[in-house]
Amino acid sequence: MSIIKKLPAILLLAPALCLLAVLRAEDAAVIEVATADSSLVLVTTGTNAPVVLRHYGSKTTDTRALLAKTVRQNQVYPAFGGVEHANLALNVIHADGSLTTELVYDGHEQRALDADRQETVVRLRDKQYPFFVELRLVAHKAANVITQRVTVSHKEPGPVRVENIASAYLPLRAGAYWLTHFHGAWGREMRVTEERLTSGGKVIEEFRKIVQATMADNPSFMLSLEHAAEEESGEVYAGTLAWSGNYKLAFTLDERETLHITAGMNPFAATRILDAGASLETPEMVLTYSARGRGQASRNLHDWARKYALYHGDQLRPILLNSWEGAYFKFDEKTLTDMMDDTAAFGIEMFVLDDGWFGNGKYARDSARAGLGDWQVNKKKLPRGIGYLADYAVSKGLRFGIWIEPEMVNPKSELAKKHPEWIVKSPGRDIPQSRNQWLLDLSNPAVQDFVAKVFDDTVALSPNITYIKWDANRPVYSVGSAWLPADRQEHFWKDYVDGLYKVYERVRAKHPHITIQLCSSGGGRVDYGALKYHDEFWASDNTNAVDRVLIQYGTNMIYPPIATGSHVSASPNHQTDMMIPLKFRFDVAMSGRLGMELQPKDLAGADRDFARKAIENYKLIRPVVQFGDLYRLYSPYNENGRAAIQYVAKDKKQAVLFAYNLYHLTSRGFSFDIKLRGLDPAKTYKVTEMNREPDRGTFANDGQLYTGEFLMNVGVSIQDSRSHKNLRPQKSSVLWLVEQ
Ligand code: DGJ
Repeated sequence: MSIIKKLPAILLLAPALCLLAVLRAEDAAVIEVATADSSLVLVTTGTNAPVVLRHYGSKTTDTRALLAKTVRQNQVYPAFGGVEHANLALNVIHADGSLTTELVYDGHEQRALDADRQETVVRLRDKQYPFFVELRLVAHKAANVITQRVTVSHKEPGPVRVENIASAYLPLRAGAYWLTHFHGAWGREMRVTEERLTSGGKVIEEFRKIVQATMADNPSFMLSLEHAAEEESGEVYAGTLAWSGNYKLAFTLDERETLHITAGMNPFAATRILDAGASLETPEMVLTYSARGRGQASRNLHDWARKYALYHGDQLRPILLNSWEGAYFKFDEKTLTDMMDDTAAFGIEMFVLDDGWFGNGKYARDSARAGLGDWQVNKKKLPRGIGYLADYAVSKGLRFGIWIEPEMVNPKSELAKKHPEWIVKSPGRDIPQSRNQWLLDLSNPAVQDFVAKVFDDTVALSPNITYIKWDANRPVYSVGSAWLPADRQEHFWKDYVDGLYKVYERVRAKHPHITIQLCSSGGGRVDYGALKYHDEFWASDNTNAVDRVLIQYGTNMIYPPIATGSHVSASPNHQTDMMIPLKFRFDVAMSGRLGMELQPKDLAGADRDFARKAIENYKLIRPVVQFGDLYRLYSPYNENGRAAIQYVAKDKKQAVLFAYNLYHLTSRGFSFDIKLRGLDPAKTYKVTEMNREPDRGTFANDGQLYTGEFLMNVGVSIQDSRSHKNLRPQKSSVLWLVEQ
């Protein structure tokens, strides 16, 4: 709770290298931003001195000691101009052309936002110019998450050019640094890479796409000190930028072995011209510190997300069937009502009509080549409209959802003819197409109105629409805005995202109860800036269950399983042609937000029964998967094709284990000894196998009682009961633990 602590003058005689000026003792301040288990401590010696980030890590209450001599002290928000030299957080050109900025302490305030959150505002000002910086940190105590955003403003006689403005800066000092980051492509999003950082810089960035900015990399990281990250031990920092546009995360290891981390919007071709009196606010950087490895860092982020960064984060997600891979663009009313009959028969709770329901005549959406922008129901395919379908769904006991892609337009559409000035393009140049479509310019308020209206009008098609899938299937190419003035074209990158967020705000103000899925050709827009307005996201267009184990493993390091759409699709898989057993497909999909995405008629006989039973099982484990704690037991990257994760209910009364063999394992086969984690050692659990195939169990001691202590210290053994099948790939096991 401490705000400002008066300190004896003697403590202010600080080190040679430090940036603290020796000032009057009564000016000194220690500013603590504290969560349950972590402290971020800022120190300044007064109104003409910089603010130093003295400590971020395990909790300390000995704040007096924080003023003792240290080798090096880094400013909390280093600007270009002083003596700071690595990874600058701020770089501006002042109205008189000066390139330098020197920020000093100008006051701070702290207040409780509620019982769990404390806000700290630290004000900095330039020593010479009327140029101001405000750091706004929020400590989320229970989840051990600290967020930070930065606002700059000025009263200089002319505009200031903001060349680079980070959301946060973090200096760390250790013997070695190991960076975990996420890299991929369409169909293989969020692949986990860990590397030791060596002298020099490492950058994770997206500088030109805005839309689909998270398809290749993600603005998130984990950073382990001293050694490669472990799951349940060691110091790990995790960070993720809540921003749906271009980003840059930079890690620079300097000659003094200090690691400087900055994160924020990408400055590439993105200078902001800031008029006097105006202000510029950065996106939010989300940080967590864990003294218990990568696992706890993920659990912190999941807890925080469910409470603060995900819409309806406290509500169970429905099981759904999405029409895309089962019908694509080729359907009529009967195709869909037949699918709904099956959906209901499986025990699924919602039917989602994907792409293909709109556009008419020559612009009918019968393929990806036409129709985007013309959001009128296709009369040929659906003569009785969406209302009929939504009512039909409800009559079968299902919720009804529908797909839109409102930021986009096909050249073959009425909209493209009517509003060519709404299209993102460089004047005089060809407008490149991607998936046969163009991007609408959301920096333009008229386009914001249009996009918000597409949402409103779609929801108005039926009172029974309770779910929207919001897709976005191309990035920016050949940038240019007819709306922005010629000298502010570089504002486009931020203004597009601000425009998108304004639309999201309007949508949420009007439709707070709608479930909204975030999608961008799969995982192209998975970030906490957008997620705040959504209930869930589509992690990848790749529904191959083997690939999904890897994709979801990486995704769930940062983003919560409750929001991770995870669907059982057909075999052979439509993206990879791989044949995968139905059990394996269910066992993978059930580790996230379960759905199906296939033509349900294609499941016959025993497969149908299996699917029905698995869906019933999911309803049993759903609260644990969606609200429980995630433990990663075997990484699919390191353990020769094995993977295992576990969820434990917060009260530790239930848990579920998912174990997989991804590939052919030669002589070892599907034979796992697994020590569980996170259980109560004193409790007794009944362990039963779920999704067990008739006569093909993987757990010989089905139904046996074990203590939590035994399960964590000795573990369970799983093995395919038919030894001759044991070597086959794509075997899996789900064990369900219930306290007795
Ligand atoms: C891309 C999405 O990721 C898919 O799930 C599907 O909705 C298609 N777009 C539809 O065009």
